[in-house]
Amino acid sequence: MVVQTPQQLANVNKANNKANSHSHKHLIIGAGFVGLGIAQALTAAGIPYDQVDASDDIGGNWHHGVYETAHIISSRKTTEFSYFPMPADYPDFPSAAQMLAYLRRFADHFGLRDQIECDRPVTQVYPIANNQWQVTFAHGDRRIYKGVILCNGHHWCKRLPKFTGQFNGEIIHSKDYKRPEQLRGKRVLVIGGGNSACDIAAEAARVAKSCTLSMRDTVWFIPKTFAGVPVAEFPQWWMPDWLQRGLIHIMIHLSFGSHRSYGLNPPNHRLLSKHPTINNEVPYYLKHGRITAKPEVKRLAGDTIHFVDGTEAEFDLVMCATGYHVAYPFLPLDLNRVTGPMVQCYGGSHLPDYKGLYFVGWGQTRGGVGPVMSAYGPFLARCIQLQDELAVPLGLVFKALGQPLPTTHLSDPHKTMLKLAIAQFGFPWIRYRAKQINNQYPHFHNQPIAMPIPGS
Ligand SMILES: Cc1cc2nc3c(=O)[nH]c(=O)nc-3n(C[C@H](O)[C@H](O)[C@H](O)COP(=O)(O)OP(=O)(O)OC[C@H]3O[C@@H](n4cnc5c(N)ncnc54)[C@H](O)[C@@H]3O)c2cc1C
Ligand SMILES: NC(=O)c1ccc[n+]([C@@H]2O[C@H](COP(=O)([O-])OP(=O)(O)OC[C@H]3O[C@@H](n4cnc5c(N)ncnc54)[C@H](OP(=O)(O)O)[C@@H]3O)[C@@H](O)[C@H]2O)c1
Repeated sequence: MVVQTPQQLANVNKANNKANSHSHKHLIIGAGFVGLGIAQALTAAGIPYDQVDASDDIGGNWHHGVYETAHIISSRKTTEFSYFPMPADYPDFPSAAQMLAYLRRFADHFGLRDQIECDRPVTQVYPIANNQWQVTFAHGDRRIYKGVILCNGHHWCKRLPKFTGQFNGEIIHSKDYKRPEQLRGKRVLVIGGGNSACDIAAEAARVAKSCTLSMRDTVWFIPKTFAGVPVAEFPQWWMPDWLQRGLIHIMIHLSFGSHRSYGLNPPNHRLLSKHPTINNEVPYYLKHGRITAKPEVKRLAGDTIHFVDGTEAEFDLVMCATGYHVAYPFLPLDLNRVTGPMVQCYGGSHLPDYKGLYFVGWGQTRGGVGPVMSAYGPFLARCIQLQDELAVPLGLVFKALGQPLPTTHLSDPHKTMLKLAIAQFGFPWIRYRAKQINNQYPHFHNQPIAMPIPGS
C-alpha cells in the first residue's frame, strides 16, 4: 500500500475538489457557430456550463477552417441566428471575415466570452461512476462534468481518396487550402464535386496555369442566385420536396441550360438527394475553357494522372476536395456511434444507453446553419433540464416514443424547424411519457468505461 503524507493527501484533495467544482456543470466542446448557439441557449435557460475550444480564438471554421476567399453559399438570411440578424450592410453572401466578425459580435452580445477557454483541446471524454463524465485536456489536467455537449464540428477530419500509383507533385486536402497563392502558375487537378471543389476550381481557373476538375459522379450545379435572389431563400416551410425540386430545376434550366452544353454528363441522381453544390463559377469557367472536366482518377504515374475515361494529363498539384469524416476522437470506441456521415443517436443528439452526452451539429442541413441552431438550442436546453429529472437517458425515451435512428445526415432546414416547433409544443407530453418510461428503469446508471492506461 502506498502511504501518503498529510501534505500529499491535502494536495490530492485540493486537486479533486478543483476537478469536482465542475461536476454540477455541462461542458461544451467547441466554440464555433454551433457551440456558440448552444452556449447562448444554455445561458438563456440558466443551465451552468463551461466551454472550451482547441483553437486560440472562437469562431470555429470561420476563424481557422476556411480559405481566406470563402463566401458562404447559403445566404445571409438563411444562415444568421433567427434572433440575432447579421448587420444590414452585409451582402447576401458574406465573406469568411464577415462571418467571423458576426460570430464574435454574437458572443459579445450574449456575454458568452467569459465562459470560453481557448487553447483547450479535449483529448478524452469518458463516462465514470455516478453518471459523471471525466474530461481530459491536452495539457494532461482532468475535470469531472455532469454532462458533455459535443460541438466539435464535422468539417475538419479530412477524407482522402485512396490512389493507385505514385505522384511526383504535391497532393493536399482542401482543408489545407488557404489562399490563391497556393495555386498560382500550377497545373492543378481538383478532385470532388462539392462546394469546396467548385470554389477552389474557380480560384484555380483565375490564377493557375491550368485547372482540371475530376468528379467521380455527376453533379447538379445550382446557381447561387436567381432573378437577383439567393436560391437558398426560395424554399419555404410549406413547400413539399417535389415543389422545391421543381422550382430549382426551373432555376437551373433558365440559368445554365443543360449540363451537356458544358461537356458534363447529365446528373444521374435526383436533385437534392445529395448535399447541393451551389456554384455559378464552374459552369462559367467551363464555358471559357479555364476549367476542364474529367471523370474519376484511375491512377497516378509520376507527373501524369490517368482518368477512368482513358485520358491523361500532367499536373503539379492535386487538391482533394473530397470532404470530411464525422469524428469524435476523444470518445471511447464504445461511444463512437458514427456510421458513415451519421451519428446513431435519437432525437438528433441522444444515446439510448448513456445520459449526459449530446452530439450536436453533425448533420448536414441544406441551408445555412443559424436558423436550425436557433430552434435546436432551446430544445436541447429543455432536454438537458428534463434529463436532470430522469434516471434513464433521454435517448431511451425518444427511442421508446418511436423516434427512428437517422437514415441520412442531410436535412431540409424548414422541415427540421417544423419538427422542432412541434416537439416544443408537445414537450409537456414528452415529459409525461419520459416520467412513465423512467419508472420502468428507476435505477438506471451509466456504465463507466475504463480509461486506457497511457503508453499501453
Ligand atoms: C469552406 C467552407 C464553407 C462553408 N460554407 C458554409 C455556408 O455557406 N453556410 C453554412 O451554413 N455553413 C457553411 N460551412 C459549414 C461550416 O462548417 C458551418 O457554417 C459552421 O462553421 C459549423 O459550425 P460548428 O460549430 O459545428 O463547427 P466548427 O466551425 O468546425 O467549430 C468546431 C469547433 O470545435 C473545436 N474543437 C474541435 N475539436 C475539439 C477538441 N477536441 N477540443 C476542443 N475544441 C475542439 C474547433 O477548434 C472548432 O473551433 C462551410 C464550411 C466550409 C469548410
Ligand atoms: N462557399 C461555401 O459556402 C462552401 C465552400 C466549401 C464547402 N462548403 C460546405 O462545406 C461542407 C463540406 O463541403 P466539401 O465540398 O468540402 O465536401 P463534400 O460536400 O462532402 O463533397 C465532397 C466531394 O468529394 C467527392 N468525393 C469524396 N470522396 C471521393 C473520392 N474518394 N474520390 C473522388 N471524389 C470523392 C464527393 O463525391 P460523391 O458525391 O460521389 O460522394 C463530393 O463530390 C459542405 O457543407 C459545403 O456546403 C461551403
